[in-house]
Amino acid sequence: MAAFSSSGLLLLLLVSFTVTAFADNFYDKCDTIWGEGRAQIHDSGNMLTLYLDKTSGSGFQSKDEYLFGKIEMQLKLVPGNSAGTVTAYYLSSKGETWDEIDFEFLGNVSGQPYILHTNVFCQGKGNREQQFYLWFDPTADFHTYSILWNPQRIIFYVDGIPIREFKNLEYLGIPFPRNQKMRLYSTLWNADDWATMGGRVKTDWSQAPFKASYKNFKARACVSSSTGSTYCGPDKNAWFWEELNFGKKGQMKWVRDNYMVYDYCKDTNRFPQGLPTECAFANLL
Ligand SMILES: *[C@@H]1O[C@H](CO)[C@@H](O)[C@H](O)[C@H]1NC(C)=O
Repeated sequence: MAAFSSSGLLLLLLVSFTVTAFADNFYDKCDTIWGEGRAQIHDSGNMLTLYLDKTSGSGFQSKDEYLFGKIEMQLKLVPGNSAGTVTAYYLSSKGETWDEIDFEFLGNVSGQPYILHTNVFCQGKGNREQQFYLWFDPTADFHTYSILWNPQRIIFYVDGIPIREFKNLEYLGIPFPRNQKMRLYSTLWNADDWATMGGRVKTDWSQAPFKASYKNFKARACVSSSTGSTYCGPDKNAWFWEELNFGKKGQMKWVRDNYMVYDYCKDTNRFPQGLPTECAFANLL
């Protein structure tokens, strides 16, 4: 019994050591891009903090551009009265026909739930919103939010639990992002014209500055170097072919049955001519 629990502890230690050991350093991998000092890298590059005050929000981006990858980060969101604030964490390409894969965290008054808003843009066209409550308080501690993007599918994960899958259905004529490189961006900004209860609750600036924290950034992805060659890392096979097994699909169903707030695929008022084609396939687990 004693031997069992100490090897269990050792395993735990090894796992947490591995997570930290392979986290990317924010100094090496990210640039602060907005907010004049309100985006701060500290703790030797292991932590990044974004601040929002009445004058400005702030943001950062990855130095690398990715063409497929699995991007993971731990976030701790604005605590207390965060109504009106939005923390966006997303991949995006550039130009007028850009691709984008979004997580956006919509704040709320103290004690009321955040909404996790997701969207997928292909060639400049989004309108694929799905929103969720979380099954924990995202301001109390760090939680892991991941985007898997490979040629077959996009999967949004929260603490390893899939909440949304967007499949490559190009054979049905539905565009899928697979030609444009994307960068990771994250910003903390004021969106009190729409974010909380449809814009009815405004940001309480007496609570400023608002703060969101980031750690354990891990980008396993295909990255082009300055010489033009592409490197996908030693563990490419782990994510390039990743799909949801039966157990993961069950977890996703649990989230969608219990925590989903909005699904564009159910919004028949919004699409009077008929729901988007992918919706007929979205729920085929
Ligand atoms: C904020 O809390 C209210 C009341 O519980 C809820 O209806 C709403 O969905 C929550 N989230 C946002 C972002 O408005």
